[in-house]
Amino acid sequence: MRLQTLLACCFISVTLVSGSTPRGVGIETKPLDELYKDAIAEGGDLIVKAGGDEKNQRDEVIQAFRERFPKINLNLTVDLSKYHDSVIDRSFNLTGKAGADIAQLQTLQDFVRWRGEGKLLAYKPAGFDHIPDNIKDVNGFYVGTNYFLFANNFATAKLTKAEAPTEFLDYLEPRFKGKIVSTYPNDDDAALFQFFKIVQTHGWEAIFKFLNQDVQFVRGTATPIAVMLQSNNSRSVTFTSGPGFTNGSTGFFQQLPRDDFSHIVIWAQRAAIFKTAEHPAAAKLFLNFLLTKEQQVANGGFSVRDDVPPQAGLKPLSAFAGKLDPPAFERFMLNRPVVERFKLQFEQLIGTAQGISPLDDDL
Ligand SMILES: *[C@@H]1O[C@H](CO)[C@@H](O)[C@H](O)[C@H]1NC(C)=O
Ligand SMILES: *[C@@H]1O[C@H](CO)[C@@H](O)[C@H](O)[C@H]1NC(C)=O
Ligand SMILES: *[C@@H]1O[C@H](CO)[C@@H](O)[C@H](O)[C@H]1NC(C)=O
Ligand SMILES: *[C@@H]1O[C@H](CO)[C@@H](O)[C@H](O)[C@H]1NC(C)=O
Repeated sequence: MRLQTLLACCFISVTLVSGSTPRGVGIETKPLDELYKDAIAEGGDLIVKAGGDEKNQRDEVIQAFRERFPKINLNLTVDLSKYHDSVIDRSFNLTGKAGADIAQLQTLQDFVRWRGEGKLLAYKPAGFDHIPDNIKDVNGFYVGTNYFLFANNFATAKLTKAEAPTEFLDYLEPRFKGKIVSTYPNDDDAALFQFFKIVQTHGWEAIFKFLNQDVQFVRGTATPIAVMLQSNNSRSVTFTSGPGFTNGSTGFFQQLPRDDFSHIVIWAQRAAIFKTAEHPAAAKLFLNFLLTKEQQVANGGFSVRDDVPPQAGLKPLSAFAGKLDPPAFERFMLNRPVVERFKLQFEQLIGTAQGISPLDDDL
Protein backbone atom coordinates (compact mmCIF):
# COMPACT_ATOMS: atom_id res chain seq x y z
CA MET A 1 0.00 0.00 0.00
CA ARG A 2 2.71 2.47 1.01
CA LEU A 3 4.82 1.43 -1.96
CA GLN A 4 1.89 2.00 -4.31
CA THR A 5 1.32 5.47 -2.89
CA LEU A 6 4.99 6.22 -3.27
CA LEU A 7 5.05 5.02 -6.86
CA ALA A 8 1.88 6.92 -7.69
CA CYS A 9 3.33 10.07 -6.21
CA CYS A 10 6.59 9.73 -8.07
CA PHE A 11 5.04 8.74 -11.34
CA ILE A 12 2.82 11.81 -11.27
CA SER A 13 5.66 14.12 -10.36
CA VAL A 14 7.87 12.70 -13.10
CA THR A 15 5.05 13.19 -15.60
CA LEU A 16 4.53 16.78 -14.47
CA VAL A 17 8.20 17.63 -14.71
CA SER A 18 8.68 16.15 -18.16
CA GLY A 19 5.38 17.71 -19.26
CA SER A 20 6.74 21.17 -18.53
CA THR A 21 10.16 20.50 -20.02
CA PRO A 22 11.10 22.72 -22.90
CA ARG A 23 12.35 20.08 -25.31
CA GLY A 24 15.61 20.40 -27.09
CA VAL A 25 17.59 22.46 -24.59
CA GLY A 26 21.02 21.19 -25.50
CA ILE A 27 24.30 21.79 -23.74
CA GLU A 28 26.13 24.98 -24.77
CA THR A 29 28.58 24.34 -27.59
CA LYS A 30 29.87 27.87 -28.21
CA PRO A 31 33.39 28.52 -26.91
CA LEU A 32 33.81 31.25 -24.29
CA ASP A 33 35.20 33.72 -26.84
CA GLU A 34 32.00 33.54 -28.87
CA LEU A 35 29.84 33.88 -25.79
CA TYR A 36 31.98 36.91 -24.92
CA LYS A 37 31.29 38.46 -28.35
CA ASP A 38 27.56 37.85 -27.89
CA ALA A 39 27.69 39.51 -24.48
CA ILE A 40 29.51 42.56 -25.86
CA ALA A 41 27.03 42.83 -28.75
CA GLU A 42 24.18 42.73 -26.24
CA GLY A 43 25.52 45.84 -24.49
CA GLY A 44 28.21 44.50 -22.19
CA ASP A 45 26.35 44.77 -18.87
CA LEU A 46 25.76 41.97 -16.35
CA ILE A 47 24.02 41.99 -12.98
CA VAL A 48 24.72 39.12 -10.59
CA LYS A 49 23.38 38.64 -7.09
CA ALA A 50 25.61 36.27 -5.14
CA GLY A 51 24.99 34.89 -1.65
CA GLY A 52 27.58 35.47 1.03
CA ASP A 53 28.26 37.20 4.30
CA GLU A 54 31.27 39.39 3.55
CA LYS A 55 31.32 42.09 0.87
CA ASN A 56 34.65 40.89 -0.53
CA GLN A 57 33.76 37.19 -0.53
CA ARG A 58 33.46 36.91 -4.32
CA ASP A 59 36.34 39.26 -5.16
CA GLU A 60 38.52 36.53 -6.64
CA VAL A 61 35.79 35.47 -9.08
CA ILE A 62 35.03 39.10 -9.97
CA GLN A 63 38.70 39.79 -10.63
CA ALA A 64 39.21 36.62 -12.69
CA PHE A 65 36.10 37.38 -14.76
CA ARG A 66 37.09 41.02 -15.35
CA GLU A 67 40.61 40.03 -16.37
CA ARG A 68 39.34 37.53 -18.88
CA PHE A 69 36.37 39.59 -20.16
CA PRO A 70 37.41 43.23 -19.69
CA LYS A 71 34.64 44.60 -21.91
CA ILE A 72 31.89 43.25 -19.65
CA ASN A 73 30.70 45.57 -16.93
CA LEU A 74 30.13 42.99 -14.18
CA ASN A 75 28.02 44.25 -11.29
CA LEU A 76 28.15 41.45 -8.71
CA THR A 77 26.73 42.22 -5.28
CA VAL A 78 27.16 39.97 -2.27
CA ASP A 79 24.52 39.78 0.44
CA LEU A 80 22.96 37.10 2.59
CA SER A 81 21.08 34.77 0.24
CA LYS A 82 17.95 35.18 2.35
CA TYR A 83 18.03 38.92 1.65
CA HIS A 84 18.99 38.70 -2.04
CA ASP A 85 16.00 36.42 -2.64
CA SER A 86 13.71 38.79 -0.73
CA VAL A 87 14.76 41.66 -2.98
CA ILE A 88 14.33 39.50 -6.10
CA ASP A 89 10.84 38.38 -5.03
CA ARG A 90 9.84 41.97 -4.27
CA SER A 91 11.24 43.12 -7.60
CA PHE A 92 9.17 40.48 -9.40
CA ASN A 93 6.13 41.73 -7.54
CA LEU A 94 6.77 45.42 -8.21
CA THR A 95 8.19 45.32 -11.73
CA GLY A 96 7.54 41.82 -13.08
CA LYS A 97 11.33 41.35 -13.39
CA ALA A 98 14.01 39.80 -11.17
CA GLY A 99 16.21 42.90 -11.15
CA ALA A 100 19.23 40.67 -11.83
CA ASP A 101 20.39 38.45 -14.66
CA ILE A 102 21.72 35.66 -12.47
CA ALA A 103 21.28 34.59 -8.86
CA GLN A 104 23.86 32.38 -7.16
CA LEU A 105 22.52 31.54 -3.73
CA GLN A 106 22.48 29.24 -0.69
CA THR A 107 18.67 29.31 -0.47
CA LEU A 108 18.25 26.15 -2.55
CA GLN A 109 14.48 26.10 -2.00
CA ASP A 110 14.10 29.32 -4.03
CA PHE A 111 15.36 27.68 -7.20
CA VAL A 112 12.78 24.93 -6.95
CA ARG A 113 10.03 27.52 -6.29
CA TRP A 114 11.19 29.92 -9.03
CA ARG A 115 11.32 27.01 -11.45
CA GLY A 116 7.72 26.14 -10.52
CA GLU A 117 6.70 29.77 -11.00
CA GLY A 118 8.19 29.76 -14.51
CA LYS A 119 10.77 32.43 -13.62
CA LEU A 120 13.94 30.59 -14.66
CA LEU A 121 15.53 30.11 -18.05
CA ALA A 122 16.29 26.54 -19.11
CA TYR A 123 19.97 26.67 -20.03
CA LYS A 124 22.77 24.12 -19.89
CA PRO A 125 26.25 25.62 -19.75
CA ALA A 126 29.26 23.71 -21.05
CA GLY A 127 30.23 21.03 -18.54
CA PHE A 128 26.59 20.49 -17.52
CA ASP A 129 26.92 16.77 -18.27
CA HIS A 130 29.85 16.58 -15.84
CA ILE A 131 27.78 17.81 -12.90
CA PRO A 132 25.97 15.21 -10.77
CA ASP A 133 22.19 15.14 -11.17
CA ASN A 134 21.69 15.57 -7.43
CA ILE A 135 22.99 19.16 -7.48
CA LYS A 136 21.32 20.43 -10.64
CA ASP A 137 17.97 20.59 -12.39
CA VAL A 138 18.26 17.98 -15.14
CA ASN A 139 16.32 20.27 -17.49
CA GLY A 140 18.80 23.10 -16.95
CA PHE A 141 16.72 25.52 -14.89
CA TYR A 142 19.49 25.74 -12.27
CA VAL A 143 22.88 24.22 -11.64
CA GLY A 144 25.26 23.72 -8.71
CA THR A 145 28.37 25.82 -9.31
CA ASN A 146 30.56 25.27 -6.25
CA TYR A 147 30.54 23.29 -3.04
CA PHE A 148 30.48 24.96 0.34
CA LEU A 149 31.81 22.85 3.19
CA PHE A 150 31.48 23.94 6.83
CA ALA A 151 33.93 21.87 8.86
CA ASN A 152 36.25 22.02 11.90
CA ASN A 153 38.51 25.07 11.99
CA PHE A 154 41.04 26.11 14.59
CA ALA A 155 43.39 29.10 15.01
CA THR A 156 46.95 27.89 14.57
CA ALA A 157 48.30 30.58 16.93
CA LYS A 158 46.16 29.24 19.77
CA LEU A 159 46.05 25.45 19.31
CA THR A 160 48.09 22.69 17.75
CA LYS A 161 46.59 20.31 15.24
CA ALA A 162 46.77 17.48 17.77
CA GLU A 163 44.81 19.54 20.33
CA ALA A 164 42.11 20.73 17.90
CA PRO A 165 38.64 19.17 18.00
CA THR A 166 37.47 17.13 15.02
CA GLU A 167 34.47 15.10 16.32
CA PHE A 168 31.40 16.92 17.62
CA LEU A 169 31.79 15.40 21.09
CA ASP A 170 35.32 16.87 21.30
CA TYR A 171 33.73 20.35 21.48
CA LEU A 172 31.97 19.30 24.71
CA GLU A 173 35.24 18.67 26.55
CA PRO A 174 35.91 21.07 29.47
CA ARG A 175 39.09 22.39 27.80
CA PHE A 176 36.99 24.03 25.07
CA LYS A 177 34.86 26.04 27.49
CA GLY A 178 35.12 29.68 26.41
CA LYS A 179 37.03 28.68 23.25
CA ILE A 180 34.18 28.15 20.77
CA VAL A 181 32.84 30.79 18.40
CA SER A 182 29.81 29.86 16.27
CA THR A 183 27.43 31.35 13.78
CA TYR A 184 23.90 31.78 15.16
CA PRO A 185 22.03 28.73 13.81
CA ASN A 186 18.89 30.86 13.80
CA ASP A 187 20.54 33.35 11.42
CA ASP A 188 21.98 31.03 8.77
CA ASP A 189 20.21 27.91 7.49
CA ALA A 190 23.44 26.01 6.74
CA ALA A 191 24.55 26.44 10.36
CA LEU A 192 21.00 25.51 11.37
CA PHE A 193 21.29 22.27 9.41
CA GLN A 194 24.52 21.44 11.24
CA PHE A 195 22.73 21.77 14.59
CA PHE A 196 19.74 19.85 13.23
CA LYS A 197 22.02 16.95 12.32
CA ILE A 198 23.75 17.13 15.70
CA VAL A 199 20.36 16.78 17.43
CA GLN A 200 19.48 13.86 15.16
CA THR A 201 22.73 12.08 16.02
CA HIS A 202 23.43 13.10 19.62
CA GLY A 203 20.08 14.38 20.95
CA TRP A 204 19.22 17.63 22.73
CA GLU A 205 21.37 16.72 25.76
CA ALA A 206 24.45 17.26 23.59
CA ILE A 207 23.14 20.69 22.56
CA PHE A 208 22.56 21.66 26.20
CA LYS A 209 26.15 20.62 26.99
CA PHE A 210 27.38 22.61 23.98
CA LEU A 211 25.53 25.72 25.12
CA ASN A 212 27.10 25.30 28.58
CA GLN A 213 30.51 25.73 26.93
CA ASP A 214 30.17 29.55 27.01
CA VAL A 215 29.88 29.72 23.22
CA GLN A 216 30.23 33.10 21.51
CA PHE A 217 27.51 33.37 18.86
CA VAL A 218 28.10 35.76 15.95
CA ARG A 219 26.38 36.74 12.72
CA GLY A 220 27.79 35.41 9.44
CA THR A 221 29.79 32.30 8.70
CA ALA A 222 33.09 34.10 8.03
CA THR A 223 32.92 36.02 11.32
CA PRO A 224 33.95 33.04 13.53
CA ILE A 225 37.23 32.82 11.62
CA ALA A 226 37.81 36.58 11.97
CA VAL A 227 37.17 36.35 15.74
CA MET A 228 39.47 33.32 16.09
CA LEU A 229 42.26 35.16 14.30
CA GLN A 230 42.24 38.05 16.80
CA SER A 231 44.98 37.63 19.41
CA ASN A 232 43.09 39.46 22.16
CA ASN A 233 40.47 36.77 22.88
CA SER A 234 40.36 33.12 23.89
CA ARG A 235 38.27 31.91 20.92
CA SER A 236 40.15 29.27 18.97
CA VAL A 237 37.67 26.85 17.35
CA THR A 238 34.55 26.82 15.18
CA PHE A 239 32.71 24.40 12.91
CA THR A 240 30.22 26.78 11.26
CA SER A 241 32.70 28.17 8.71
CA GLY A 242 34.10 26.98 5.43
CA PRO A 243 37.22 29.02 4.65
CA GLY A 244 38.77 26.11 2.77
CA PHE A 245 41.69 23.77 3.23
CA THR A 246 44.99 25.62 3.59
CA ASN A 247 48.46 24.73 4.85
CA GLY A 248 47.84 26.89 7.94
CA SER A 249 49.73 29.92 6.61
CA THR A 250 46.41 31.81 6.80
CA GLY A 251 46.34 31.48 10.61
CA PHE A 252 43.63 28.83 10.63
CA PHE A 253 43.45 25.22 9.65
CA GLN A 254 40.40 23.29 8.46
CA GLN A 255 39.94 19.60 9.25
CA LEU A 256 37.38 16.92 8.53
CA PRO A 257 36.30 14.57 11.34
CA ARG A 258 37.63 11.05 11.65
CA ASP A 259 34.21 9.38 12.04
CA ASP A 260 31.38 11.63 13.20
CA PHE A 261 30.24 14.00 10.42
CA SER A 262 27.05 15.04 12.24
CA HIS A 263 28.27 18.64 12.65
CA ILE A 264 29.56 19.01 9.08
CA VAL A 265 27.55 20.32 6.13
CA ILE A 266 28.24 20.36 2.42
CA TRP A 267 26.07 21.73 -0.36
CA ALA A 268 26.42 23.07 -3.88
CA GLN A 269 25.53 26.74 -4.22
CA ARG A 270 22.97 27.01 -7.03
CA ALA A 271 22.95 29.45 -9.92
CA ALA A 272 20.16 30.24 -12.37
CA ILE A 273 19.48 32.73 -15.13
CA PHE A 274 16.13 34.50 -14.86
CA LYS A 275 13.78 34.42 -17.82
CA THR A 276 13.45 38.19 -17.41
CA ALA A 277 17.24 38.68 -17.61
CA GLU A 278 18.02 41.86 -19.51
CA HIS A 279 21.50 40.57 -20.35
CA PRO A 280 20.98 36.87 -21.11
CA ALA A 281 24.12 36.55 -23.27
CA ALA A 282 26.32 37.97 -20.50
CA ALA A 283 24.53 35.75 -17.99
CA LYS A 284 25.33 32.69 -20.11
CA LEU A 285 28.96 33.78 -20.37
CA PHE A 286 29.16 34.11 -16.58
CA LEU A 287 27.63 30.69 -15.92
CA ASN A 288 29.95 29.01 -18.43
CA PHE A 289 32.88 30.83 -16.85
CA LEU A 290 31.98 29.60 -13.34
CA LEU A 291 31.98 26.02 -14.59
CA THR A 292 35.27 26.14 -16.51
CA LYS A 293 37.86 23.71 -15.23
CA GLU A 294 40.12 26.67 -14.36
CA GLN A 295 37.52 28.27 -12.11
CA GLN A 296 36.62 24.94 -10.56
CA VAL A 297 40.28 24.37 -9.66
CA ALA A 298 40.55 27.95 -8.36
CA ASN A 299 37.64 27.32 -5.95
CA GLY A 300 39.68 24.69 -4.08
CA GLY A 301 38.05 21.87 -2.14
CA PHE A 302 35.79 19.55 -4.12
CA SER A 303 34.79 20.52 -7.66
CA VAL A 304 31.18 20.15 -8.81
CA ARG A 305 32.59 18.71 -12.06
CA ASP A 306 33.33 14.99 -12.07
CA ASP A 307 36.25 15.60 -14.45
CA VAL A 308 38.07 18.01 -12.13
CA PRO A 309 39.99 16.37 -9.26
CA PRO A 310 39.67 17.77 -5.73
CA GLN A 311 42.27 20.02 -4.18
CA ALA A 312 45.58 18.23 -3.59
CA GLY A 313 45.49 16.14 -0.42
CA LEU A 314 41.70 15.64 -0.51
CA LYS A 315 40.12 12.32 -1.36
CA PRO A 316 37.33 12.51 -3.93
CA LEU A 317 33.84 13.29 -2.61
CA SER A 318 32.76 9.74 -3.46
CA ALA A 319 35.16 8.48 -0.77
CA PHE A 320 32.92 10.20 1.82
CA ALA A 321 29.68 8.41 0.93
CA GLY A 322 27.25 8.55 3.85
CA LYS A 323 29.37 11.25 5.50
CA LEU A 324 29.33 14.18 3.07
CA ASP A 325 25.94 14.14 1.34
CA PRO A 326 25.37 17.27 -0.81
CA PRO A 327 21.64 16.75 -1.59
CA ALA A 328 20.74 16.44 2.12
CA PHE A 329 20.88 20.21 2.56
CA GLU A 330 18.44 20.78 -0.30
CA ARG A 331 15.97 18.34 1.26
CA PHE A 332 16.24 20.26 4.54
CA MET A 333 15.85 23.66 2.86
CA LEU A 334 12.74 22.51 1.02
CA ASN A 335 11.12 21.48 4.30
CA ARG A 336 10.28 25.01 5.47
CA PRO A 337 8.03 23.95 8.40
CA VAL A 338 10.90 21.95 9.91
CA VAL A 339 13.41 24.76 9.23
CA GLU A 340 11.08 27.30 10.84
CA ARG A 341 10.40 25.18 13.91
CA PHE A 342 14.05 24.35 14.39
CA LYS A 343 15.10 27.99 14.02
CA LEU A 344 12.69 28.88 16.82
CA GLN A 345 14.11 26.10 19.00
CA PHE A 346 17.43 27.97 18.87
CA GLU A 347 15.90 31.40 19.18
CA GLN A 348 14.27 30.16 22.39
CA LEU A 349 17.57 28.74 23.67
CA ILE A 350 20.04 31.51 22.70
CA GLY A 351 17.89 34.49 21.72
CA THR A 352 17.57 36.36 18.45
CA ALA A 353 20.73 36.95 16.43
CA GLN A 354 22.42 40.06 17.80
CA GLY A 355 24.54 42.52 15.88
CA ILE A 356 24.56 44.41 12.62
CA SER A 357 24.75 42.69 9.24
CA PRO A 358 27.92 40.56 8.97
CA LEU A 359 28.65 42.48 5.76
CA ASP A 360 29.08 45.68 7.76
CA ASP A 361 30.55 44.43 11.04
CA ASP A 362 34.23 44.85 10.04
CA LEU A 363 34.90 41.26 11.10
C1 LIG B 1 24.69 47.14 -9.21
O1 LIG B 1 23.44 46.50 -9.12
C2 LIG B 1 22.68 46.85 -7.97
C3 LIG B 1 21.42 46.02 -7.99
O2 LIG B 1 21.73 44.69 -7.78
C4 LIG B 1 22.40 48.34 -7.99
O3 LIG B 1 21.73 48.68 -6.79
C5 LIG B 1 23.70 49.12 -8.09
O4 LIG B 1 23.42 50.48 -8.24
C6 LIG B 1 24.52 48.64 -9.26
N1 LIG B 1 25.84 49.27 -9.24
C7 LIG B 1 26.35 49.85 -10.33
C8 LIG B 1 27.71 50.45 -10.11
O5 LIG B 1 25.79 49.88 -11.38
C1 LIG C 1 2.21 41.49 -5.74
O1 LIG C 1 1.79 41.28 -4.41
C2 LIG C 1 0.42 41.60 -4.21
C3 LIG C 1 0.14 41.54 -2.73
O2 LIG C 1 0.58 40.30 -2.19
C4 LIG C 1 -0.43 40.64 -5.03
O3 LIG C 1 -1.80 40.94 -4.86
C5 LIG C 1 -0.05 40.79 -6.50
O4 LIG C 1 -0.75 39.83 -7.27
C6 LIG C 1 1.44 40.60 -6.69
N1 LIG C 1 1.79 40.92 -8.08
C7 LIG C 1 2.57 40.15 -8.81
C8 LIG C 1 2.84 40.64 -10.21
O5 LIG C 1 3.06 39.11 -8.41
C1 LIG D 1 40.11 42.83 20.03
O1 LIG D 1 40.64 43.74 19.11
C2 LIG D 1 39.73 44.25 18.14
C3 LIG D 1 40.47 45.15 17.19
O2 LIG D 1 41.53 44.45 16.63
C4 LIG D 1 38.59 44.96 18.83
O3 LIG D 1 37.65 45.39 17.86
C5 LIG D 1 37.92 44.01 19.82
O4 LIG D 1 36.93 44.69 20.54
C6 LIG D 1 38.95 43.45 20.78
N1 LIG D 1 38.29 42.43 21.58
C7 LIG D 1 38.47 42.34 22.88
C8 LIG D 1 37.77 41.19 23.56
O5 LIG D 1 39.15 43.13 23.51
C1 LIG E 1 51.37 27.73 2.22
O1 LIG E 1 50.51 28.26 1.22
C2 LIG E 1 50.83 29.58 0.84
C3 LIG E 1 49.73 30.10 -0.07
O2 LIG E 1 49.12 29.10 -0.79
C4 LIG E 1 52.19 29.59 0.20
O3 LIG E 1 52.53 30.90 -0.18
C5 LIG E 1 53.22 29.06 1.21
O4 LIG E 1 54.47 28.96 0.62
C6 LIG E 1 52.81 27.69 1.76
N1 LIG E 1 53.69 27.35 2.87
C7 LIG E 1 54.18 26.13 3.04
C8 LIG E 1 55.03 25.94 4.27
O5 LIG E 1 53.95 25.21 2.28
